[in-house]
Parts: sequence; structure tokens; C-alpha cells
Amino acid sequence: MRIGMMTGGGDSSAINAAIRAVVRRGLEGGHTILGFKNGWAGPINGNYVEMTADSVSGILPRGGTILGTSRTNPFKMDGAVEQMRENLRLAEVDAMICIGGDDTLGVAHKINSLDPPIPAVGIPQTIDNDINGTDFAIGFQSAVTVATDALDKLHTTAESHHRIMVVEVMGRDAGHVALYAGIAGGADTILVPEHHFNIDEVIDRIKKRRQLGKTFSIIVVAEGAKPEGKQVAVSEKTDAFGHVRLGGIGEYLADVIEEKTGFETRFMNLGHLQRGGIASPFDRFIATEFGVAAVEMVEKGEFDRMVAIQCGTVSSIPLEEALTVRPVDERVFNMAKLFY
Ligand code: F6P
Repeated sequence: MRIGMMTGGGDSSAINAAIRAVVRRGLEGGHTILGFKNGWAGPINGNYVEMTADSVSGILPRGGTILGTSRTNPFKMDGAVEQMRENLRLAEVDAMICIGGDDTLGVAHKINSLDPPIPAVGIPQTIDNDINGTDFAIGFQSAVTVATDALDKLHTTAESHHRIMVVEVMGRDAGHVALYAGIAGGADTILVPEHHFNIDEVIDRIKKRRQLGKTFSIIVVAEGAKPEGKQVAVSEKTDAFGHVRLGGIGEYLADVIEEKTGFETRFMNLGHLQRGGIASPFDRFIATEFGVAAVEMVEKGEFDRMVAIQCGTVSSIPLEEALTVRPVDERVFNMAKLFY
């Protein structure tokens, strides 16, 4: 078979491990693997390369994606879907493997639903870990590692200076990075988009800690967290998938806390650091499992589905089911409060 592959949306640290697995398993199965460049822009513009074992040599731990990425939405561009269909026909592509988050997977689902369909399978990849039906998406564990490492470092300086440290992490409308890193890094308060919060309650908690002799506090806030029910965005401008650019909640919170408590407060936005660098061993492992499983799904004709990991077992689910935002686990969120 001739299998196309693309990576779309925000990058993360273990995409290359998945690309390598698709190529290695694909070649082993006697298939030709075509790597389309820069997200959906690749199929739209007919921009691809034939992948070889050499082209994926040495990329296993490397962050980013050797195929490049973009937030291109073919369904928002005049004629792009037909252009993509024609380019895939010219390249004699039998099926696509699409690696990305909800936006990329949403397009993968839509092209499967065209008449006639463009057969595609999905691999979940996003540091946000908000894809429904899979315990983990590629990139999440690496992002949590970066954020936890940052919290460990910020702890010592917060303690020495008797400061409040507000640390903003990514995650869009889900708080998985905040919750996992917050628990692993010993945060004193974790704020996630799934639960609106009241700033005065956060301040009360900081004051109570002071009364107990703890002169510093570490607050982890997800970029999508909602003080009094409203998110903070860098700008109201939306991308091709309709998302505003979130960010700024950490600075906002730090200002209000300092003003209302008089305690010295600093903020740190970990930003894109969470998406870069060496992939964690667990991410490399699931990326490898996912890449191999995706090729096997193509061989079996199991289209319009996404590989998933549930309770340690790799399986697959209909793409459509994957597309709703998976919130943080309530039990874990409540457990975190034990340590505030
Ligand atoms: O979806 C991944 C993500 O990193 C989100 O956590 C974040 O809101 C967004 O992408 C940032 O996107 P960009 O890199 O396009 O600014």
C-alpha cells in the first residue's frame, strides 16, 4: 500500500518517535510511506517526500516533528479539500495516518466522511492530553516532566525569598498538565479550567499557610483556568480552528494576589518550553506502540478510527468519539486538595 502521513497542530516532544514507528513498521510490511509536510498544508499543496529507514534514523528522542506542522484547516479554505483529494490521488495514496490533537483528528474524521471518503486513521498527539477515549496522548508525559522540573526549581527560590510563585502551564480547555505537574511538583494550589475558581479562596489558602508558618506558596494555574468563570486570552483573534490564544492568567493572578495580600509574588509562564526538548521514555514508548498500531489498522482497513491506550492496552476507538474535550479526572482533582 501507499500510506501518507502528516503531523498537524501544536507540536510536542515524541512525534518523531511515532513517525519513526510508522516508517519502520510500514517498510517492514512492504508499504511505501509518504511524509506530507507542514500539517494539512502538505496534502493541499502536494508537498511530500518518500520516507526511508535512513530518513528516520536518530530521531527517536528528538522533539518537534521532522515533517513540520501547521494549524491549516482545509475545510476553511476555498477548494482546499478537492485540491487535497487530487494531490493524494496523484501520489497514489491509499490511506492517511494523521498525527495530532483534536483539530487534526477532526479533519481526519471529516475526510473519512466525504463522498467518496479519503481513508484515514488517527494518532493522538497533544501535550493537552484532552483527547477523549485514550488515557494518554503523545507528548503529555514529556510536558509534565518539563513542568515538574520547573516546579522543583521554583520551589527553592520561592522558599528562600518567602514568595508566592504563580506558574502558568498550557493545556487549553483542560487541566491535565496543571494537575499532573502540580501533584508531582507539590503545588499548594492547582487551578484548572474544569473548575471555576474564586481568587479570594486562593488568597485565604495562602494566608492560612502563612499562619501555619509556611512563608511561601506555589500555585499552578492552567492557561484556560477561569477566575470567576472567565478565561484570560492574549488576544480575541482566533486561529483556523476557532481557538483564541490563551495566556496571561498567571500574571493576572500574581498581580491580584500581591495587591490583596501584600506578599511578594512572582509569576512564570512555562509556555512553549513544555512542547520542546527530549521526549520522555514513556512518550517514546507509546508513540512507538501507536505508530505500529496505526499501520496495522490501515492494513486491516480500520478507517475513521484512532489508536488509543486504555488501562495499559493499545486499542482503537472511532475518531468521532475522540473529538470531545476530555476533562481532568474528578477523583484525582479532589485527591490533589489533600496536599494544599
Ligand atoms: O494544543 C497545544 C497547545 O500547546 C495548547 O496547550 C496551547 O494553548 C496552544 O497549543 C498554543 O498554540 P500556539 O503554539 O499555536 O500558540
